[in-house]
Amino acid sequence: MPVTPDPVGTKPLLRVLEGRREETPPVWMMRQAGRYLPEYRQIREKAGGFLDLCFNPELAAEVTLQPVRRFGFDAAILFSDILVMPLALGRKVEFLAGEGPKLEPMTDASALAGLRDRADPDVLAPVYETVRRVKAQLDDKTALIGFCGAPWTVATYMVAGEGTSDQAPARLFAYRDPENFKRIIDRLVQGSIEYLVGQLKAGADCVQIFDTWAGILPPEQFDRWCMEPTEKIVAGVRAQVPGAKIIGFPRGAGAMALPYVEITGVDAIGLDWAFPRSLAHDILQPRVPVQGNLDPLALLAGGDALDREVDDVLTLADRPLIFNLGHGILPATPIEHVERMLKRVRG
Ligand code: CP3
Repeated sequence: MPVTPDPVGTKPLLRVLEGRREETPPVWMMRQAGRYLPEYRQIREKAGGFLDLCFNPELAAEVTLQPVRRFGFDAAILFSDILVMPLALGRKVEFLAGEGPKLEPMTDASALAGLRDRADPDVLAPVYETVRRVKAQLDDKTALIGFCGAPWTVATYMVAGEGTSDQAPARLFAYRDPENFKRIIDRLVQGSIEYLVGQLKAGADCVQIFDTWAGILPPEQFDRWCMEPTEKIVAGVRAQVPGAKIIGFPRGAGAMALPYVEITGVDAIGLDWAFPRSLAHDILQPRVPVQGNLDPLALLAGGDALDREVDDVLTLADRPLIFNLGHGILPATPIEHVERMLKRVRG
């Protein structure tokens, strides 16, 4: 007689995405593969440019697995970048050392001529290969998270050509020429659906949609450029992969977090560190699991401040919670602080 399989699966992170509470919340960190790890810096040097690393399945799989091996996180997150999508849509994308991303800016509608209708599958193929390689090396407790950038956030980089303090160029474009801005967003929606479906078919257990710049939008613009496209991606992915598990991370959404959950249909919401925990507990968690929301600066600071913040996030653990940071880990973070955080979370 075969043993009855565990109906809810063996991966704690997926169990939480099903709406269950785990005694010890599953934990991973945004940007967990990155410069705070000496083993990452070593491979990064060997790979050449940052994009060379993203498109090298052997090395990308290796850096994806590094933090899981070192810390035993409950999830691996695919090593890649949200700006792979503009590249697949035909835009020029570069990462200059110490300066971050540089794209060919899109100052007006004429730039749409240089945008492909569909994402180039050849550009994305190595990423799927990375997913397959990572999946083959993970145990049955560790989830593999795929991801894409939300259309709004990706568009902010495509329009400005770089990260700015307030992504004003995309906001201006959207006010001045909403029709053409929507064309950019629509291409990103279609490309992102295909990209996430490709990752799920290659073996990702769930996916996260990073909307890093959601919080700078006024409410009506938030509806139009953050929630509507995200809702389309969620529905489009599930049309091809029924039951696909999707985490939304609308950073800075604040009072828009509840409508975001209700309208987009995500399975869980990632919260930045400024989101009030009492509201997360009383208003969001009865509807969906939450993920977050330790301040990355508390992790950098360490000591009592870190302990206090960890304990405060853990007040959410009586309902479905994925323990994480409120944004990516900072490169200067000492490894011992990550160890201290994990010890406390796992009690
Ligand atoms: O470990 C992981 O989280 C997986 C890999 C990952 C990276 N970027 C690797 C990366 C993920 C999920 C991202 C998402 C991403 N990329 C976002 C959304 C989340 C966020 O952090 O807000 C955004 C806005 C980007 C675009 C991007 N990529 C910027 C603005 C920069 C430069 C800033 C910086 O931190 O250097 C990057 C570069 C980048 N992406 C690095 C890494 C590890 C550092 C580059 C390097 O190693 O040289």
